[in-house]
Amino acid sequence: MDKIVIQGGKPLRGTVAVSGAKNAVLPVLAATLLTSGKNEILNAPQVRDVSTMAHLLVELGAELEHFEGGRVVLDTSRVNNPEAPYDLVRTMRASCLVLGPLLARLGQARVSLPGGCAIGARPVDLHIKGLEALGAKISLEEGYIVGTTNGLKGAHYFFDTVSVTGTANIMMAATLADGETILENAAREPEVAFLGELLNRCGAKISGAGEDVVTIQGVASLEPFQCRIFPDRIEAATYLISGAITGGEVEVVDCIPHHIEPLILKLREAGFLVEEGEDRVKISGNDRPVSVNIKTQPHPGFATDIQAQFMALMTLARGQSIVTESVFENRFMHVAELRRMGADIEVRGNTAIVRGVERLSGAPVMATDLRASASLVLAALAAQGESVISRVYHIDRGYERMENKFSQLGADIQRVK
Ligand code: UD1
Repeated sequence: MDKIVIQGGKPLRGTVAVSGAKNAVLPVLAATLLTSGKNEILNAPQVRDVSTMAHLLVELGAELEHFEGGRVVLDTSRVNNPEAPYDLVRTMRASCLVLGPLLARLGQARVSLPGGCAIGARPVDLHIKGLEALGAKISLEEGYIVGTTNGLKGAHYFFDTVSVTGTANIMMAATLADGETILENAAREPEVAFLGELLNRCGAKISGAGEDVVTIQGVASLEPFQCRIFPDRIEAATYLISGAITGGEVEVVDCIPHHIEPLILKLREAGFLVEEGEDRVKISGNDRPVSVNIKTQPHPGFATDIQAQFMALMTLARGQSIVTESVFENRFMHVAELRRMGADIEVRGNTAIVRGVERLSGAPVMATDLRASASLVLAALAAQGESVISRVYHIDRGYERMENKFSQLGADIQRVK
């Protein structure tokens, strides 16, 4: 298993370009199942989750004609297998995004339950209830969600909790349902808005994607598409924080600043100079941050996927900051590892009290989930001495060439086998 070794304590300086958004490309890949023909996706990030999803689509009968350099070409003419096997789904929860499209396309689906997850129970009950509302019959058999339908029917559905992939799943299924579907309390993430626009270009009739009420008029079929994935806001956020935590000067380019506005405002509140351009954000500051509080919320609130990285920054702040996680019930696994590097953090329920320390020191630490791992890399970049981060396959799920990008910024970072 690979490890990442970092000699910390160097201010990072330079420019780093952001790759395509992982969380945007996954539903887009699933959406190819709604079409019959050749789909082309550009600027797909070259990360493990994208390979897993592409692999899953091949399992379902799609032909992967090109998969290199961020260009994915998938021919979905011969999709015929409704089964998403455990081996693939267990490595990536977002695999359940094929559930809605399979039901709409084939009238049946057999998708393994994703099972436990490091960041909490993360059930898929809202996906299931939404599809049942559209008339699908769903049962749980031998660890699989088994769905059948003679034709989905439009419905009025309310999400008890805002769910990003839940919204994408039901929205995709409803595009080919008979009649009108209204989704209330839908997720407003940019990834959902992007998916809605893309499906409309294929012939779907969706209004309000990216708002909390989405209305979908079902159509008989969708045309294949070509699209370019927009920049990853979580990756942009991670590199921006790397400039802050190391007291350097980092310019993040090829990004959409407005997607990370809550972070930008919090970084300014913490005392950093953050300059925004049209497709770039630059951060500088060489002093310890001022402590600020954050509370994660669904978009447009402070993203839960940046909580761990921001907490790493706050470990070095002057004063005490309160980090409240309100999207997931158990997303503080990075705390124990940050403590091993000298951070002073106390967890009380869904709140972490971070008392800033003057310095962190390098240590062997273990990556536990994708964004927690990013927070450990950030802490290690700032810490004095050597850190060895193990289980970096978590990082590879969602960050393209992370160690190369950090090296480019002047970090002493290496991947070892
Ligand atoms: C997506 C993102 C993930 C991000 C998360 C929250 C993708 C591929 N992943 O995950 O990076 O951290 O949004 O912004 O886009 N819930 C239920 N029942 C359900 C579904 C969800 O109770 O059926 C709960 C979850 O446990 C969680 C909350 O709803 O507490 C939000 O989860 P959700 O938005 O569904 O996360 P994902 O879509 O899995």
